[in-house]
Order: sequence, then structure tokens, then C-alpha cells
Amino acid sequence: MSDDLAALAARTEADLAAAADLRALDAVRVAVLGKSGALTALLKGLGAVPAEERKARGAALNALKARLEAAIEARREALEAAALQARLAAERQDMTLPPRPFAPGGPGGRAGGIHPISRTMEELTAIFGAMGFRVVEGPDVESDWHNFAALNIPDHHPARQDQDTFYLPGEIEGHRAVLRTQTSPLQIRTMLAEPPPIRIIAPGRTYRADHDATHSPMFHQVEGLVIEQGVTLGHLKGCLTDFLRAFFGIADLPVRFRSSYFPFTEPSMEVDIGWNRRTGELGAGSDWLEILGSGMVHPRVLANCGLDPRQWQGFAFGMGIERITMLKHGMADLRPFFEGDLRWLAHYAAHPLAPASLHEGV
Ligand code: DAH
Repeated sequence: MSDDLAALAARTEADLAAAADLRALDAVRVAVLGKSGALTALLKGLGAVPAEERKARGAALNALKARLEAAIEARREALEAAALQARLAAERQDMTLPPRPFAPGGPGGRAGGIHPISRTMEELTAIFGAMGFRVVEGPDVESDWHNFAALNIPDHHPARQDQDTFYLPGEIEGHRAVLRTQTSPLQIRTMLAEPPPIRIIAPGRTYRADHDATHSPMFHQVEGLVIEQGVTLGHLKGCLTDFLRAFFGIADLPVRFRSSYFPFTEPSMEVDIGWNRRTGELGAGSDWLEILGSGMVHPRVLANCGLDPRQWQGFAFGMGIERITMLKHGMADLRPFFEGDLRWLAHYAAHPLAPASLHEGV
């Protein structure tokens, strides 16, 4: 290689080694191989080279060109790899950090817990699920037809006042809008949506203008509905007795069915469980505690949903989820459910990985 080419090769290779990033690398490439680059100029000048030298000079220039192109490419790869490494290092995330402890100062730290209301809903779902019930959901903002009229609660029925309804502006499906005061409208929505046989529970939020130690304006109920041919009061009693004994984990829990009144059931029954009023112990003592409402679905409710009451029978029930949760865990006040106090949650929340326990406290 002639001296000038050797000098160009050495200079370019030094510049490549010094190029710290892709922009600097490109500047070196342009200075040598660009339109007015040093090597390009030498190639253009080949025509002026005496004929006897031209072949050797041409071969030397092409060899140098290939060598410098390869060197540029190698440097580009090295710079790109370094840039990627730098980016990976900068964006590194340490996935091994422990989660923040759930409870302040809690030993071992917990990632989070299941709220007792959610846990009760999981338990309800597990127990009724084993009996063949399916979970359905409906809107919190209901029409007063679904919430009242279709359930045989006419306009001036006292139950409308009893329930301290939150009325809302506007209409739902052509009827006055309300925040549902009970989960019973899910009976109506389910019977309108699907043909029997039906076996559903509907846990969810409900609303009434009421606020004290045992009432919250937003609370939760679970509704149950069974529609089948030949369903009797005996099925209702067996189903609810089994449920209450499984939920409270007391195999011989006394259960009493007491005649009552609800507009949407006939006959209607309130269900009591045995307890000791003085100690609060469930299943012991000689006192009774009212726990849920139930009954055989009223023929007029079946008819409102297009079912022939001579052909189809069924039973329904409804209960307050806060109430059964408080009883199960011996809680005196309902307000902490919704206050988000971490100390209360640390005490009452269930471990997220524990199976929904049917026979013991969380
Ligand atoms: N909806 C009633 C309430 O909020 C509870 C209830 C009672 C539901 C009897 C029922 C039932 O399905 O049959 O007080």
C-alpha cells in the first residue's frame, strides 16, 4: 500500500476508535466514504493516474474501501451493544424487593388482605355454589318498577317508606330511578332474562337513607332465588338450615322459621338462629336472633315476570351481609367496615391465599 493510503487507513482507524457514539461514528464515515470524503476523492482521481499504475492503484483503493467499511460496521456494532447495555442498566428494576408490610409493624409483613365483606361473599358463593346456585349481578341504580312494583310493592305501600329510598333524577327503562334498597330486584331481572329452572344468588350493594352503629347508607345484601317445578317450603327450610350451619360452622345450630310478612312472598318467614343474648355466643343459650327473610315467591311476582304460577313455584330469601359478618366475628359496630382503618383491617382481613373457610374464623 502506498504511503498516502497507509496514512489514510491509520488516521481513519484511530478516528473510529475515538468515536464515542453513533453520531461521531457517522461523521468519520462521511469524512472518508461520503460524497466529498477522502477515499471517494482518491477513487475519483483514479482517471488521472498513469495507465500503467492505474490497475494496481485501483485494486489498492478498493481493498482499502472494503477494509474501512468493515471497520466502520464493527465499530457500529460495538457502539450499539454498549448503548443497549447502558439502557438496560439504567432501566433495571429490582423485582426482588419485598412488598410493603400490610400492617404497620406487622411481623413478616403481609401484602394485603381480603376485606371481611368480600370474604363473606366468597363464603356465600362457595356454600351456595356447592348447592348448585349461580351468582348474578345487577345495577345499583335501579328502576322503581324492578325495585318495588314488580315485587308486589305498589306505590303507596308502607314498605316504600320503610326502606328510606334514595330517589335519583331521571329514568331507568321508563321508570323512576332509585338506588336499589334491596337485592330483590335481581329476582325480577333473572326471571325476565332466562327461563326456569333457576337457582341464583345475587350478592351486592344496597342503599337506604339510614346511618347509625348498625346501619350504613350503603350496605350489602345477598338475595337467593329458586324457581323449579314442585319446589316446596320444605326445600326452603332445608336449604337455609344447611346454609346457616355451614356459614357459622356450627353443625347443630338451632334454626327457627317464624311466620312473617313480605309483599313478594306468600307465605313469608323470618329465620332465627339460637344464641345467648348475654354472652353473644351463637348456637348456645335459649335466645333467638333474627337473621334473614324468606318465603315462597308470590304468585303475582311470578306473573309479573311472565311465569304461570300454576306451573312454576319457588322460594326466595334475602339477608344483610354486614349483619351475618358481624355475628360471625363478634363485631359490635358496622361503621368500621367502611372506614379503612389499617389497624382494624389488619385484625379482621383474611389472608389472600387462605381458602374461603366454611368452618372457622378467618
Ligand atoms: N328484600 C328484603 C329486605 O331488604 C329481604 C328479603 C326478605 C328478601 C324475604 C327475600 C325474601 O327474597 O323472600 O328486607
